[in-house]
Amino acid sequence: MALRVAVTLEIPDRLRGDGTSTELLAVELGVPQVALELLLNHLVVLGIVEHSPTGHRTTDYGQALCADAANGLNNLLHLNKAGGRAELAFAELLHSITTGQAGYTRRYGQDFWADLDQHPHLRESFDQQMIDRFTDQIPRIVTAVDWARFPTIIDVGGGRGALLAAILAAYPGVRGRLVELEPTATAAVHTFAALQLGDRARVSTGSFFEPLPRGAHAYLLCDILHDWDDDHAHRILARCAEAVHPDGRIMIIEPVGDRHAGTEFDLAMLVIFGGRERRIEEFRTLATAHGLTLDTVADLTEQRCLLELRLDR
Ligand SMILES: C[S@@+](CC[C@H](N)C(=O)[O-])C[C@H]1O[C@@H](n2cnc3c(N)ncnc32)[C@H](O)[C@@H]1O
Repeated sequence: MALRVAVTLEIPDRLRGDGTSTELLAVELGVPQVALELLLNHLVVLGIVEHSPTGHRTTDYGQALCADAANGLNNLLHLNKAGGRAELAFAELLHSITTGQAGYTRRYGQDFWADLDQHPHLRESFDQQMIDRFTDQIPRIVTAVDWARFPTIIDVGGGRGALLAAILAAYPGVRGRLVELEPTATAAVHTFAALQLGDRARVSTGSFFEPLPRGAHAYLLCDILHDWDDDHAHRILARCAEAVHPDGRIMIIEPVGDRHAGTEFDLAMLVIFGGRERRIEEFRTLATAHGLTLDTVADLTEQRCLLELRLDR
């Protein structure tokens, strides 16, 4: 929490270089000097700041928390951004464990997605978090699957389009379409345009609980189903199953319970979304209800699995 508060008050950024005195920093931030001193003392222990001739300055290690560190940490820890705000919902873990419901909804009065919809800065930071979390995964997901099998791919809840763009760039014969909520859908249009993929990548603004574009050969669900409880996961799969080409596939990419998912992350999915990291058998049960067969399970990375579903014959 000390790190989160430090990032939220921009302390690593403010104390860069020669640093400054606690007195001046307290005035700059408009906070009590005595309380700030307590935080700085602890940040010294954590190695984030160190004593300097002027007061305190950020250490080399602490610079990893600066806004321009390009490692996603600042965005993840900041309490007024999506990641930090979501973590605060862990205060409702007891509620989540005793009801099976998202603590987030109880804490903030609406679910995670409604909250993002209402607060554009949360949406912006969440979408950026999704990019940061995946930069090292995407190249491996692109090469681990022969995406050329699919003339058309619908990326269902595809975020800003980073994964679909990478697939299209690597497989020139593939066309893609991304379905997303606003304003992320518009951001995806910019992603594809910036990479000159606009002629092969379309974006549809809309909800994956509504009918999806029909007849594509692959419906990609990357880190989607684990955000939802079974009722909602069924609704998403039903939309995919009714839309997919008869010879097509529903490609689920996400951590699989007992295989990749860490226990802490599993709790986070419950607390934040009311979702969870399902095990293979749970995916099979979900699929069966929609006339789908789970016919391939493959580890793509140490964090993500691919589950391929096809329509029963
Ligand atoms: C965990 S993110 C994953 C994004 C992307 N698939 C990726 O792997 O980077 C979940 C995505 O689902 C989208 N989403 C949530 N509810 C949605 C809905 N009802 N319809 C379409 N997209 C939705 C969110 O906007 C978000 O981009």
